[in-house]
Amino acid sequence: MCGIFGYIGKREALPFILEGLKKLEYRGYDSAGVSTIQHGKIFLNKSCGKIARLEEVLEARPIGGSIGIGHTRWATHGKPSDENSHPHSDCSDQITVVHNGIIENYLELRRQLAEEGHKFTSATDTEVIAHLIEKYFKETGSLETAVRKTLNAIDGSYALGVISEHEPDKLIAARKGSPLLIGIEEDETFIASDISALIKYTSRVIYLNDYELAVITENDIVIKDRDGKTLKKNISFISWDPESAEKCGYTHFMLKEIHEQPNAIRKTIEGRISAESANIHFDELNLTEKEIKNINRVVFTACGTSWHAALVGEYLIEQMVKLPAEVEYAAEFRYRHPVIDDKTLVIAISQSGETADTLAAAWEAKSLGAKVISICNVVGSTLARDSHGVIYTQAGPEIGVASTKAFTTQLSVIYLLTLLLARTKGTLTGAEIKNYIHDLIELPGKIEQVLAREHEIEKIAQKYYLSNNALFLGRGKGFPIALEGALKLKEISYIHAEGYPAAEMKHGPIALIDQNMPVVVLAMTGKRYEKILGNIEEVKARGGQVIAIANEGDNYIQEKADEVFYLPKSPIAVSPILAVIPLQLLAYYIAVKRGCHIDQPRNLAKSVTVE
Ligand code: AGP
Repeated sequence: MCGIFGYIGKREALPFILEGLKKLEYRGYDSAGVSTIQHGKIFLNKSCGKIARLEEVLEARPIGGSIGIGHTRWATHGKPSDENSHPHSDCSDQITVVHNGIIENYLELRRQLAEEGHKFTSATDTEVIAHLIEKYFKETGSLETAVRKTLNAIDGSYALGVISEHEPDKLIAARKGSPLLIGIEEDETFIASDISALIKYTSRVIYLNDYELAVITENDIVIKDRDGKTLKKNISFISWDPESAEKCGYTHFMLKEIHEQPNAIRKTIEGRISAESANIHFDELNLTEKEIKNINRVVFTACGTSWHAALVGEYLIEQMVKLPAEVEYAAEFRYRHPVIDDKTLVIAISQSGETADTLAAAWEAKSLGAKVISICNVVGSTLARDSHGVIYTQAGPEIGVASTKAFTTQLSVIYLLTLLLARTKGTLTGAEIKNYIHDLIELPGKIEQVLAREHEIEKIAQKYYLSNNALFLGRGKGFPIALEGALKLKEISYIHAEGYPAAEMKHGPIALIDQNMPVVVLAMTGKRYEKILGNIEEVKARGGQVIAIANEGDNYIQEKADEVFYLPKSPIAVSPILAVIPLQLLAYYIAVKRGCHIDQPRNLAKSVTVE
């Protein structure tokens, strides 16, 4: 949603803050700002636009000091503008704050503060925090106490960084519902919204939990709970290498991450499977055999691309584990009073592990007695820590806003988890499981074969990049892949693209078909192949253009479709993971040809940590 970074140490704060914000820019990038303290005086610089614009402003007016905070914004309250950018100040400009989250009761607080004479300069909810701290500092004379009283007065979510002239040696950090980490090095301490901004400087981090507040000085870190009791926190070690958060020669993070998928899947499955013994093991699943045998229903909950992964899981669970399975949008699930109990396994899927709706859905499921396990890509993320068990995808940092390697590693985990459940429930034999495991082990090599032919996709993109609309059709497990292909295209090229179950086309979308509407069809051979061919005929009969994703050796399809991209033959159970690769590349190359910003598409953010 937004990115926060803070520094306190022996060196100049500004370079660290700017570098940290650049690593966090994928979280939100409509405005940015920094504030530092030098010789007891507070300085602030902020502007609408990307961090590059802020750097230009700072070029002309640099700010010094060895303590500071910075912010890169995805607007929630108040349009992107210089005034609405963070950091925000109090009336005396002696306190500055950066905030990621939403203050639900900000209007009422703003009214009260205005009545008490506070002057507001922005339309944001965050500015209320600066004025509340000002108010409580006047009452108590303690910055820490003023911040704690402020946090007790607000409803909503926050990851917060605060500095002040009143106590210029302190950096205060606090969190509730939005992620915030403390990075520790010999002579300096950092705060950041996620690991990608810290990994360059340190691998030693402390995860702040909800309601915790940290008072950080040059030589000390004191973390307290909401009652002010000092806590003893463990230091965690991050295994990501700094290189993985760089582009490594690729034009865009998205293209790099598309190409990382074979190794990301290899890393995700290694150490968890034994093809010989048909064993599957997840270290932190935290589900006993007895608990698995007690499960009589599976409910997936997620958002966006992760929700599409869940849809594939629904098919796999029903087919292989013979259990009823359903998929719920997290935002709907959390408010719908779902009927679940201790026999329900809820699987919450989230790349970031910080998506507000998915977190709330998981908490709701836990409160109703369900076993909740999460599939996350960020170690120590809130969802991972708040679930009964977690299975980490090993995709490494995914910087591109459009999710790619997280999706295919989520599918790999879901596939293995399904096999584990099937083995425990006895719905698949050891021999069957060995075959399925073998199919998954073979998959990364097949993805590499597809990636080696990306120029074929680029040629197709060249023909269709000027389209204004597109339709993606699939059947069975091809349907969620059609949805994912449509989402990829719409979020980075801004073409209006829709995914549909192919059979549904006749019930409305067929009215859209004309010569300007490219229709991408997942036409891998399977028991519905004949039906898919029928759908292609229906599109062609109306002048539509068909781009088919088909299995190699299918010579028939090329008589029907305008374009065909052939996939290496792959077993039907893993075919969705293979079929999404050309769709990712198609969206990428179309967006490049349209001159779109690939890694930071307009209006989007990598992690939606607000409702
Ligand atoms: C995917 O390309 C999008 N960026 C978005 O739909 C994303 O999948 C969604 O916001 C969920 O994010 P999460 O997996 O981190 O929870």
